[in-house]
Amino acid sequence: MKNTTNKIVLIGAGAVGTSFLYSAINQGLAERYGIIDINEVNSRGQKLDLEDARPALPRDFEVESGNYELVSDADLIIITAGRPQKPGETRLNMVADNARIMKQIALQVKSHGFKGVTIIASNPVDIMTTVYQKITGFEPKKVISSSCTLDTLRLKLELSKIFNVAPTEFGVFVMGEHGDSSVSTFAHGTLKGIPLSKFFAKHSITQDQINEIHERVWKKAYEIIDCKHATFYGIGASLTDISMSILRDEKRVFATGSLLNGEYDMYGTYAGIPCVIGKEGIVETYEFPLSEQELAKFKKSVNTLKENTLLALKAIK
Ligand code: LAC
Repeated sequence: MKNTTNKIVLIGAGAVGTSFLYSAINQGLAERYGIIDINEVNSRGQKLDLEDARPALPRDFEVESGNYELVSDADLIIITAGRPQKPGETRLNMVADNARIMKQIALQVKSHGFKGVTIIASNPVDIMTTVYQKITGFEPKKVISSSCTLDTLRLKLELSKIFNVAPTEFGVFVMGEHGDSSVSTFAHGTLKGIPLSKFFAKHSITQDQINEIHERVWKKAYEIIDCKHATFYGIGASLTDISMSILRDEKRVFATGSLLNGEYDMYGTYAGIPCVIGKEGIVETYEFPLSEQELAKFKKSVNTLKENTLLALKAIK
């Protein structure tokens, strides 16, 4: 008999993972949480710390720490495990180290009978998700990369600062690699259905300034890491947002990573594209309209992911 409560298991109780957990608990996302970390003392400490919040919150929850047996009856797994990005390092620099970690996680999750949906945030996230899906053999739609969801939030925030409008009002995406080669979709972007181009023209915003908007977006993580050595609140909130669409079957659209299967004539790697997210995972993907230049940049970004995925697969042979 399936539990009527939602259970989320976090794998990797570092700053990103615990920021997600704290965000999820405060939003009453699930009734049961599990924490798995290579450092069992850390995961127990996180459990003890988080449970102290129970009496202060409107919705009660249970939180436990332990081993991979926790995933057997979980609805959703969030994987943030892996070594963090160092100042000056790109996410792709971590591919071999984190592929080896992801392989072990995938084998454990598979062997403990997990049947739910997985969201991966470990960087380089689109490649780590490809590795995990290949090793587990889970249906691609039930394996999701957090990919460009955070980048898309950053783009909407930049635009909201320029046009003095709520970030939620923009119909734009960042796509491709969650990384240096990502693409912002300005050409057909909208503000409540009105072409962004009209607002750029009205505010005399030049192409160079548009390029600078995208540059601020893809460089934001580096700026934060230079200041505080890691990013975790933005990705934590983004993971909670995606998880909510899954657990409540909301079918909202996110720039999550999907295993490309012909979108924009590209195949065989996870990359950020518009995805409808519901209880079964990726319900559907959309080909957001791109300019010729944006399409070329997207395809270049996907090919960068493919090249680095080969490095990841070689590292785990
Ligand atoms: C960032 C990390 C999550 O972009 O890659 O902040």
